Amino acid sequence: MKTPAAVCLIFLLSVILLKGSHAEPYEYLQFVLQYSKGYCYNTQICFARLPKMFTIHGVWPANISNPLVRCKQSKKLHQFKQNVMTTSLQNDLGQSWPNVERAKTNIGFWKEEYEKHGSCTAPAITQKAYFERAHELWKEYDLYTILDKKQIKPGHSYALTDFEAAVKSKIGTDTIPLILCKEDTLTTGSSTTGLILREIVICFDHQGTNLVNCTRPTDCKRQKSTTKDNMIYYVP
Ligand SMILES: *[C@@H]1O[C@H](CO)[C@@H](O)[C@H](O)[C@H]1NC(C)=O
Ligand SMILES: *[C@@H]1O[C@H](CO)[C@@H](O)[C@H](O)[C@H]1NC(C)=O
Repeated sequence: MKTPAAVCLIFLLSVILLKGSHAEPYEYLQFVLQYSKGYCYNTQICFARLPKMFTIHGVWPANISNPLVRCKQSKKLHQFKQNVMTTSLQNDLGQSWPNVERAKTNIGFWKEEYEKHGSCTAPAITQKAYFERAHELWKEYDLYTILDKKQIKPGHSYALTDFEAAVKSKIGTDTIPLILCKEDTLTTGSSTTGLILREIVICFDHQGTNLVNCTRPTDCKRQKSTTKDNMIYYVP
């Protein structure tokens, strides 16, 4: 038998609990896959040998109107725990989520990503589940192969729409992915810049289960030059 007061109390309690469980609420998750050969192009910060595939940069909470949700409070509430990272999980992530920068280690990279972005998903998604899900998604969305099947191959340049169409062949023509670039000189000594493929983002719902549209705008547009050539270079 519920009195109105009891119903009211239960409602208040659940509001408090929900607020407590997500210090920084978010609407969806961005699964960010890095193309290291593009990300590292023309820099000295990366290892000499880079993966010949896309690897995870991170899984980032986002809002439709505000694409980057920072986990400032969550970071304090849900600090990265190294003991959660079992040897087998570390071996998996060594493949799917390797650090490519000289100044960092794998564990350092995972800790940084978790505290900056992942901790927002706790406690609903545990740290272990967060990393395991990311690895599962990486296996499911093998972008190198997905692009290759559409004849998009490293060493050539393609239009933004070509990259988008190739990703959509996997995620569905109605689902919007996000392609990210950097603008840099393409040949040493030249002052002419071009767009370089750096990352591809696929978006998922709050729990990381179902595909949703990405809402962040692409940066694959020329800023530094007035040339109309918006072809995107896929570094070999
Ligand atoms: C994100 O969206 C949630 C719910 O829609 C809102 O409560 C929160 O303040 C938003 N965060 C940012 C950083 O805009
Ligand atoms: C994604 O955007 C497309 C095009 O605007 C729309 O048709 C589709 O319904 C959207 N999907 C979701 C899950 O919102």
